[in-house]
Amino acid sequence: MSITSKRINWWEPQIGEEEKALLLEVLESNFLNDGEYTTRFEQMLAELLGCKHAVAVTNGTSALFLALVGSGIGPGDEVIVPDITFIATANAVALAGAKPVLVDVDPKTLNISPAGLEQSITSHTKAVIPVHVSGRPADMPAILSIAAKHDLIVIEDAAEALLSKLNKKCLGTFGQAGIISFSPNKTITTGQGGVILLDEDTLEVRLRELKDQGRPVRGTGGEDTHDRVGYNFKLTNLQAAIGIAQLGNLPARIVRMKQNYLQYLEKLKDIEELTLLPFNVENGEVPQWVDVLTLRRDELIEFLEAREIFCKKFWFPMHTHDPYLMPDENFPNSTRLAAQAFWLPSCFSLTNADVDLVCNYIREFFGKN
Ligand SMILES: Cc1ncc(COP(=O)(O)O)c(C=O)c1O
Repeated sequence: MSITSKRINWWEPQIGEEEKALLLEVLESNFLNDGEYTTRFEQMLAELLGCKHAVAVTNGTSALFLALVGSGIGPGDEVIVPDITFIATANAVALAGAKPVLVDVDPKTLNISPAGLEQSITSHTKAVIPVHVSGRPADMPAILSIAAKHDLIVIEDAAEALLSKLNKKCLGTFGQAGIISFSPNKTITTGQGGVILLDEDTLEVRLRELKDQGRPVRGTGGEDTHDRVGYNFKLTNLQAAIGIAQLGNLPARIVRMKQNYLQYLEKLKDIEELTLLPFNVENGEVPQWVDVLTLRRDELIEFLEAREIFCKKFWFPMHTHDPYLMPDENFPNSTRLAAQAFWLPSCFSLTNADVDLVCNYIREFFGKN
């Protein structure tokens, strides 16, 4: 067995000189709180993603929570979420005091099944949170039409889908609100961070109050008025400075992530035992992470790890976690497929040679060399 000299990670963030320079600027300004860099970051995001407002907050989970609470969702309400997602989607619903209702996924995309969504609607259902796993669009035309028919609010969890598009429109801008995460395994990072995307002016005012202790205007602190219960979910100038610098590298990252996917597809397409989940990159979909299915998942991951190549297994389906426990038979697709699913190395810092190396080992594993 030959061992590669270089470790190939599943993911790694990248911080450069621009981040350091902007951070220094903020430090020297002596205003570290949510401030003008946060506003600049928000404006850049709204312009880039094509929505009227972008409200920056502490992370993707709080962004979901605020979008729910700002939309009037709370105790007694049900919110439909897919059974395959990072648990933050369901946790944000629980934090808002509502009940997450889990729905099985479409086996072709591992995103929420529109048919399952429609079947799960009750008189208590107030909203649905489609998740664009790995940057792959959920079936938004079907979801929006079901939501319109049943008067449901749509809040998109686009945590993993920065600048990924469906029909030329960015994911996260289809529903009443959408969120993106800037945690370290996302296309751009602010350490922790998130944003809520939306068009509606009244909701924007409500979200800004909710993220800052319920005050419509931040004054001296002592004499501020607080019109509603609110929280502290502000994104600081320090984090925003890093975000602004990261946005400068975004176009190159997107090119590389698309290249990663296309190269994996080309080199692995003849392996029948391995299925790459599809991305329509020509249509603007951005594969933040390259996800694959194989019945020999754990064995393959171990084989690659022994060669210093690291992958990441999919999350366990939500219905298997203690807080959201439900029988497997209600979720045939997620139960079967989550156990086969994992992410190949997907960093935007990979080279063609790195991806070739990974592919060659995968081919060797399946006896294809
Ligand atoms: C699908 C999904 N939803 C929500 C989140 C929560 O985002 P954060 O970690 O920024 O709270 C994440 C990422 O971590 C995610 O992948």
